[in-house]
Amino acid sequence: MNPSQKPLAPLRILRLIASPNGNASESLKLSERILHALTVRAGIRGIELTDIDLNTLSPVDATYAHALAHPSEIATEDQKGTLSRSDQMIILLNACDVLVIATPMHNYSVPSPLKAWIDHVVRVGKTFLSTSKGKVGTLLDRPVYVAVATGGYISGERARQPDFLRPYLSAVLKTIGLNQVHYFTVEGTAKGTDALKTAQKIGYDDVHTFFHEEIEARTHETVA
Ligand SMILES: Cc1cc2nc3c(=O)[nH]c(=O)nc-3n(C[C@H](O)[C@H](O)[C@H](O)COP(=O)(O)O)c2cc1C
Repeated sequence: MNPSQKPLAPLRILRLIASPNGNASESLKLSERILHALTVRAGIRGIELTDIDLNTLSPVDATYAHALAHPSEIATEDQKGTLSRSDQMIILLNACDVLVIATPMHNYSVPSPLKAWIDHVVRVGKTFLSTSKGKVGTLLDRPVYVAVATGGYISGERARQPDFLRPYLSAVLKTIGLNQVHYFTVEGTAKGTDALKTAQKIGYDDVHTFFHEEIEARTHETVA
């Protein structure tokens, strides 16, 4: 590097961890593959990772709900506490270049810690505007990669259950302006050791193929 050149800013990644299962979590392991691929893609730029364990995030409370419903009122000390937690979540989201979400499916949808995060960041007048044409997101669009683990199946012929997780998460992220959402899955974690190994291989290969093809496409763009 020429000494007069500034070092490239690292790729800032915010990862949300929604599983209660710690290091045994399949969605966390899948998200590690995504982080690895993003690190390769970032090259000499490097990455700067911020992890949030959503299991430590309390759900929104009455004071928060009141503050959102009465935006013109000056916040009381109580409201400031819950609003500042929401502010902090929004600041962290705004500060990232890429959002990674590691999440299990719970009862066909997102688990409650992820729902709590959604309730903190999808905030009228802050991350979306309510207009005569509907809700309009105010965040700068950026890629979102979601690592989903499911006990049963949600894709292909073996799927025997509804999947509200992916359509719901895409819709709610679109509300705040995030339109580039891509899902990776490890499915059938409850179907025994062999099924899990197969599911991991399919999920991890999918991550590899997706990012490899993206890196190839970028290289061709640069060369052309
Ligand atoms: C409360 C609860 C609800 C669940 N609901 C579903 C479900 O609706 N569909 C499904 O396929 N698996 C369901 N599972 C299984 C988890 O999705 C599965 O264990 C997954 O691997 C958990 O992700 P993790 O390993 O990242 O924690 C549920 C598990 C729990 C604890």
